[in-house]
Amino acid sequence: MSYFKTKINKISKTKGKIILANDYSNTEKNLEKKTINNIKTLHKFLCGIKINFHLLLPLGFKEISRINKLAHKFNLVTIADIKLNDIGNTNQETIENLWKLGFDAVIVNPIMGQIALKKLVTSVHKKRKGIISLCHMSAPEAKTSYEMKIKINSKTIPLYQLFLQSAITSKVDGIIVGGTYPEIIKYCKTKIKNNLNIYSPGIGTQGGKISTAINAGSNYLIIGRTILNAKNPADVAENFQKLSFLK
Ligand code: XMP
Repeated sequence: MSYFKTKINKISKTKGKIILANDYSNTEKNLEKKTINNIKTLHKFLCGIKINFHLLLPLGFKEISRINKLAHKFNLVTIADIKLNDIGNTNQETIENLWKLGFDAVIVNPIMGQIALKKLVTSVHKKRKGIISLCHMSAPEAKTSYEMKIKINSKTIPLYQLFLQSAITSKVDGIIVGGTYPEIIKYCKTKIKNNLNIYSPGIGTQGGKISTAINAGSNYLIIGRTILNAKNPADVAENFQKLSFLK
């Protein structure tokens, strides 16, 4: 098993399956301070923290490095959600920067093509880092793209099944399937067995339910606004953590 998968699976045994999506609106100030506060107050209920362009764009190298360092101190994995999708050279340069910032894993878009994805997996694993690829997104409009019918070798399949196949063949560490699509989680689970983890965003604010996603086969739940906007984020995170232990 890859280093990253071993690491997150080990952490989640005692800390549950919740990954905080540390997203803030552009109107928010003190992003670093707020993130550091989230890590300090919520770490007991989380196994990881996901950071996307919301923070990567406004914050600088020093600030993000400090956030990653602190997250590691509190036994959290850190995931850069940049849905990376470019030519090989650009992908490679990008992930090297992410590793310099201290991230443990990156989320990528498999539309880059299977050969490019495989190359990236090899490079990521060499550095003992993790790579998670999109399979089916959580938003309702994802249906129109991720379920678009495509023809491969005279067989017609929905696009997400091609992404799933790419993920399995390329040996990524995990796939993203929205918690709002439990039937698709179930389908993916039957194909991957336990070879890679399913990460599900879309819980809470977007309508997905933690128990439904876990019962369908999700290994990790990515949750943002329902925790961040709560009156008492620690209570909500603790409750999600308890639910994540139920299976
Ligand atoms: P909320 O506030 O809805 O945040 O709990 C969810 C977080 O997850 C991200 N997101 C996705 N990321 N594939 C991804 O890689 C998806 O299908 C997907 N759906 C939501 C979103 O950007 C936010 O950070």
